[in-house]
Amino acid sequence: MATSRAYAALLLLPLSLFASGTFGAGAHAASPTLIPTPISQQSDRGQLRFDARTQLHAGSEAAERASTLFSDLVQRSHGFRPGIRAGRATTGVAFEIDPDFRGDSDEAYAIDIDAKRAVVRARTAQGLQHGAVTLWQLATDANGPRKTLPAVHIEDAPRFGWRGAMLDSARHFQSVDEIKRLIDAMVVHKLNVFHWHLTDDQGWRIEIKRYPKLTEVGGCRQPSGDAGTDADGQPVRYCGWYTQAQIREVVQYAAERHIQIVPEIDIPGHATAIIAAYPELGTTTEPLKPVAEWGVFVNLLNTEESTMVFMEHVLEEVVSLFPGRYVHIGGDEAVKDQWIASPRVQAQMKALGLKTEMQMQSRMVARFEAFLAARGKRLIGWDEILEGELPPSATVMSWRGIEGGLQAAGKGHDVVMSPVSHLYLDYLQTESPNEPPGRPTTVTLRKLYDFDPVPDALAADRRHHILGVQANAWTEHMRTFDRVQHAFFPRMAALAEVGWSAPDARSYDDFLTRLPAQLQRYRMLGIAHARTPFEVRFDAASTGDGRASVALSNATGYPEIRYTTDGSEPTPASPRYEAPLSLAQSASLRAAVFVDGKPLQSADRFAITPSSLLERTDEALKMCTGALMLRLEDDTTVDGERAIFNVDIFNPCWEWTQAPLADTRAVALRVGRIPYYFQLAHDEQHRKFKPATSAHGEAVLRAGCDGPVLATTPLPAAPGKNGFLELTLPLPAQVGSKDLCIYFTGDTRPAMWVLDRVRLLPH
Ligand code: ACM
Repeated sequence: MATSRAYAALLLLPLSLFASGTFGAGAHAASPTLIPTPISQQSDRGQLRFDARTQLHAGSEAAERASTLFSDLVQRSHGFRPGIRAGRATTGVAFEIDPDFRGDSDEAYAIDIDAKRAVVRARTAQGLQHGAVTLWQLATDANGPRKTLPAVHIEDAPRFGWRGAMLDSARHFQSVDEIKRLIDAMVVHKLNVFHWHLTDDQGWRIEIKRYPKLTEVGGCRQPSGDAGTDADGQPVRYCGWYTQAQIREVVQYAAERHIQIVPEIDIPGHATAIIAAYPELGTTTEPLKPVAEWGVFVNLLNTEESTMVFMEHVLEEVVSLFPGRYVHIGGDEAVKDQWIASPRVQAQMKALGLKTEMQMQSRMVARFEAFLAARGKRLIGWDEILEGELPPSATVMSWRGIEGGLQAAGKGHDVVMSPVSHLYLDYLQTESPNEPPGRPTTVTLRKLYDFDPVPDALAADRRHHILGVQANAWTEHMRTFDRVQHAFFPRMAALAEVGWSAPDARSYDDFLTRLPAQLQRYRMLGIAHARTPFEVRFDAASTGDGRASVALSNATGYPEIRYTTDGSEPTPASPRYEAPLSLAQSASLRAAVFVDGKPLQSADRFAITPSSLLERTDEALKMCTGALMLRLEDDTTVDGERAIFNVDIFNPCWEWTQAPLADTRAVALRVGRIPYYFQLAHDEQHRKFKPATSAHGEAVLRAGCDGPVLATTPLPAAPGKNGFLELTLPLPAQVGSKDLCIYFTGDTRPAMWVLDRVRLLPH
């Protein structure tokens, strides 16, 4: 098993001073399990009693706020609220602002704990807040609340000043309360920038007093497919925006927690909602509505002076709402077709002596940069803004990779690293069939953890331009806040360490030893973290002798899996998984990952039956070419549970590698249908519809995707009432083991057939 190799390597490393030891070392994990790991920590002998009688001492307003945060957290973890007293103290816990506190960063802090008292010191309120979070982490571990604080000396400061999280509130909308919950979680991870994506093709989510239609028209859309119509056939509206009063409330809430909010108003692309509200801003004369599809749209703001002034009016209100230093103006994925086709834009470009449409976009960026600079703000945009002339003070957010960031830093721009390859949280985090919808290239915990924001390729004298890192949660596939939480946690813990901890103090294996404590903290705080990274994965195959071989694994790399075959919950005494199990073809398996004698979460179940071995769900199949694979959901309820499908939207075709077809008389398919809700701009041409030979197309089976057709059957106009269709396709005799390829023909837009399950029916 690959994971045991990883851990063999760990044992050869010197154990870091505070790692709680190797896995399975016993239940007395008393060493601190801090995330992010601090710059320096020295454990001492002894401990300080910590209970409901413990007094907190605060001699300043900042100290009082830090003690209130600590007290709030303790209330959640321990169920009591330590009292707060003014002034210094010789016992208990003291929070102290110390003007002489040394440390290069305003965010630095120190903690000293001995058997008598704990002291948290910092020069600033922000530093003291970070100290309060660390102190709370010292009071909690994988077993939950602790009754003591360990004697320790900690000195700490962040590696980067920009430790960001982006949330897209345009594709799906979150309540003010949910935004505050995310901000609370950022505090616990010592993140300090909340990038709020407030406008896009699918919705305009910020009230602008001067232009009320931005939210009245731009803030609502009709969902795609069946979800867009109610039982009476009336359109359903998906609406949401933040009033200015709500924005102020969120800004204040964040500021009290030392988190800067960077609002994003995306221009000139991702602009369908704003153009729908004020068509005079658009380049096209075609009437537009906020869209309910995903992808890249061609709609661009036009380049008229009146449009620039309109946007300045919008930015004026944005600037008045957000006191932070940065305003994000997007700039990404602005496909220029409409500008190229517009005689008006082309005439303007000629008059201005501009040769390319990108120069036209750059002109816009420069204008807004000057507008923002005059108001004491700095412009930040996605890395496309580098493609034209860019004012030196503009900051670049590198998303298409790190190359944009390297180039920008080379030219003297500040940079935030946020590459899609490592820091996009809409990518799934494991290969588990239980992942919710998203983009199935996986951004695992390890991948995120191993990201280095300052690549070796960057010259030493340019490194100071890397302001930091940010992870982005695009919400096309996150209809609910639970899904947002699934995307962020536990990956936010890895992000915290990338942004905060010193590179040589970072070790993924050590991080894994501290993560169980963080999961316990999530539970105590009511954070709904993803279960999938901690699941046990079951891979079963028939061995032909009436038995099945079942391999167990864990996606995150935890090596200790314990299992039962009698239906009971595994315990530390249950057998430990060492090698694939040989089980009868009707068995019930339960298994969980254990760390230090405790399961990370409740056990997963797996039932083996003769028919389950002849069945695969779409999540367990390969995509035939995998050009653009997505995990998508059905649309048959507006709010409730929906079926989920893996599908390649360019070439919907599924493959069961080496399917055991020898004894198979027929193949049964269960297929669903989802809206074809994508716009892919120039990539659309790569979508190939296989030609149909009957009115509604066919379901086809082949032996290998380029091999002979094994069976074909015509499709009806629509699925059954439950949204599914069951099909049985007889096979020719003596096919043998083959790569079974399954696809549908015909252009069925605006819907598409998708495979849910394939079952081999034996003779
Ligand atoms: C982006 O992902 N379009 C910035």
